[in-house]
Amino acid sequence: MTTQGNSSSLAVVTGGARGIGLGCAKSLVAKGFNIVLVDVLEDELNEATRTLRATGMHAESFVADVSRFQKAQDVVEEILERYESIDVLVNNAGTPMPKGLLDISEDEWDRTIDVHLKGCFNWSRAVVPSMLKAGSGRIVNISSISAYSGGVTRAVSKFAYAAAKAGILGMTRSLAKELGPSVTVNAVCPGAIKTELTGDMLERRSAEFTEGICLQRLGTPEDIGEVVAFLASVEPNFITGQAITVDGFQWMS
Ligand SMILES: NC(=O)c1ccc[n+]([C@@H]2O[C@H](COP(=O)([O-])OP(=O)(O)OC[C@H]3O[C@@H](n4cnc5c(N)ncnc54)[C@H](O)[C@@H]3O)[C@@H](O)[C@H]2O)c1
Repeated sequence: MTTQGNSSSLAVVTGGARGIGLGCAKSLVAKGFNIVLVDVLEDELNEATRTLRATGMHAESFVADVSRFQKAQDVVEEILERYESIDVLVNNAGTPMPKGLLDISEDEWDRTIDVHLKGCFNWSRAVVPSMLKAGSGRIVNISSISAYSGGVTRAVSKFAYAAAKAGILGMTRSLAKELGPSVTVNAVCPGAIKTELTGDMLERRSAEFTEGICLQRLGTPEDIGEVVAFLASVEPNFITGQAITVDGFQWMS
């Protein structure tokens, strides 16, 4: 792995068609990485890929549901037929789950865990063998401040989402121990970030949220992208197993 991406450095971003994932991809492209985006939204993927290619870097995309184990294996195999190695994996794909304990169905609970937590497992399992073979790699998992605070009442995501995000922190720390020294594994915990996922709710409660954030504004996908790109580069070579909160110091929940 090089300090910045070079012509052969590759980052894979799940849930990269829009929002925080696309913000991460833009920051990684700015650091010189080629990008593979993975998402379920085909039109948005195509648009995002065109945007990234306009920078002159190589970008391509795959339609895939991260909760599918075999699909991750198949896509990674296809990627590795074209690229030497996968240097960076950003496990970002996620969906909201606003239902509380008494309203959620078993299927909705399963789906929440499958997309957020199993999605991280599926893609890490598929990508890590090639990182170990190359002797280096960076994994960045997108968790949430709700892993600490619990699901945010009235917001887009309650206990099942928070449970999945807390699980991601446990996975991050364990995999950092298991995969070091070759591969670093860190997590980023965003606060209130304006994306499609939070759109309506943050739009309506923007003033209220902003008041509860030290830096007095909502976050942007680029705010998260910058930190992810830092963790994905080789300079922070003594940081692993960590969760970095990027929330402008939000005390409101
Ligand atoms: N926006 C926030 O305030 C906030 C805060 C904390 C954590 N997060 C986390 O950040 C990540 C990105 O969220 P966002 O705000 O950009 O949301 P978003 O809805 O804008 O983007 C999420 C992306 O993930 C994709 N996705 C969803 N399920 C998928 C699946 N099964 N397989 C593949 N792709 C799938 C979606 O199609 C979408 O493109 C999520 O993990 C989310 O939980 C967001």
